[in-house]
Amino acid sequence: MSATVIVGAQWGDEGKGKITDILAETADAVVRYQGGSNAGHTVVVDGDEFKLHLIPSGILHEEALCIMASGTIIDPICMRDEIEALRERGVSCNNLRVSVNAHVIMPYHRLLDGLQEEARGHDSIGTTRRGIGPTYTDKTSRMPESIRMVDLLDDSRLRSLIEAQLAEKNVIIEHLYGGEPVTVDAVFDEIAPTLDVIRPHIADVRDDIRRVLEEGHLVLEGAQGTFLDLDYGTYPFVTSSHPVAGGACLGTGVGPTEIDEVIAIVKAYTTRVGAGSFPTELNDEAGERLRSRGYEFGTTTGRPRRCGWLDGVALRTASELNSATSIAITKLDVLDAEETIKIAVAYEINGKRYERMPENLDMLDHATPIYEEMPGWQQPLSEMSSPDEMPTEAWEYVQRIATLAECDIWGISVGPARAQTIML
Ligand code: IMP
Repeated sequence: MSATVIVGAQWGDEGKGKITDILAETADAVVRYQGGSNAGHTVVVDGDEFKLHLIPSGILHEEALCIMASGTIIDPICMRDEIEALRERGVSCNNLRVSVNAHVIMPYHRLLDGLQEEARGHDSIGTTRRGIGPTYTDKTSRMPESIRMVDLLDDSRLRSLIEAQLAEKNVIIEHLYGGEPVTVDAVFDEIAPTLDVIRPHIADVRDDIRRVLEEGHLVLEGAQGTFLDLDYGTYPFVTSSHPVAGGACLGTGVGPTEIDEVIAIVKAYTTRVGAGSFPTELNDEAGERLRSRGYEFGTTTGRPRRCGWLDGVALRTASELNSATSIAITKLDVLDAEETIKIAVAYEINGKRYERMPENLDMLDHATPIYEEMPGWQQPLSEMSSPDEMPTEAWEYVQRIATLAECDIWGISVGPARAQTIML
């Protein structure tokens, strides 16, 4: 009956996991549509913290289906580890389904990701080294020996595909990068013990998605963020999939006219991990403050995130690229102590004013943000539960963000717990 897309409006780490978790309470299925174990979401339930990289945060709601659709890529070792860790904490994972068509990240994809990054030297992308680029490369190059989840159901087929893939990969590993060749036995022996745990979850998920679309509420959850999109992000400093809302259609088989709502998740300031342009980046005390107050360190890699003021130009562009119907503002409480808060409302590039990101994203390296300053509220927001309780300065900041995004506000997050959310 309805489908909602959750999309990151910045460079990832906007807090999508928490918002998905709230929506999952009333959803019939939560479906992840792209990416793999490069993601990282932390959800807090009754004070208990869950860190997940691959499995969507919807897994905590056992009455809803939790689906990894065909646009995702799956690392079987990570999947087994997350299922076992969740089970140890009382989450059954019986509701988890992974598409037969999702491609599989093998240990040599992770190895190649690292070798490619080393070889790029100063020009490295700063990937998570989880094998994302090499796996999507195999998928799009249509290698007959690319491994999909369905291939994990048959031991002898899996072994022969590994053998066929390694025939090519070992040439690259050895002769291009000077690495040690990988043996078929070593790879098979690493994957084989995961199979008993993951096989029961491999399924034809399209029927499930269709049924929920007809009878219930479907939440389609994106990983990463708009400006890490392969086509619309700051190429080449992007991921190898499509985090934008359109990616939800590609990755799940739900057509565009069946999407009712697109909630763009916007952190109240900006962060980025890895290399690439970042016009509002702060390399000063204010940036340090945001990093330590927001605990801005990568969930997957532990790397300190680059921090800066909210980029209204990026937000306006993201809102359009995703056809956002509303925004959820996250981590507003991180700004509690600021005396003055800045928002970039335009860029100046070579003497010209830009209100949207230029399509030639190389120009971003020369962008000087034009800032608007707003007074801070200098009091804690984390206990507030309705807009009426919010200080005027905080409310005005939130309204300014909504004006820049040109859409309504769905909710405001003022702390990591589910209850710390001001709904509108
Ligand atoms: P990859 O997806 O591991 O290939 O990394 C490509 C770029 O996307 C790098 O700059 C990563 O830091 C970034 N990236 C990948 N996943 C995430 C995420 O979940 N949050 C933020 N950045 C990410």
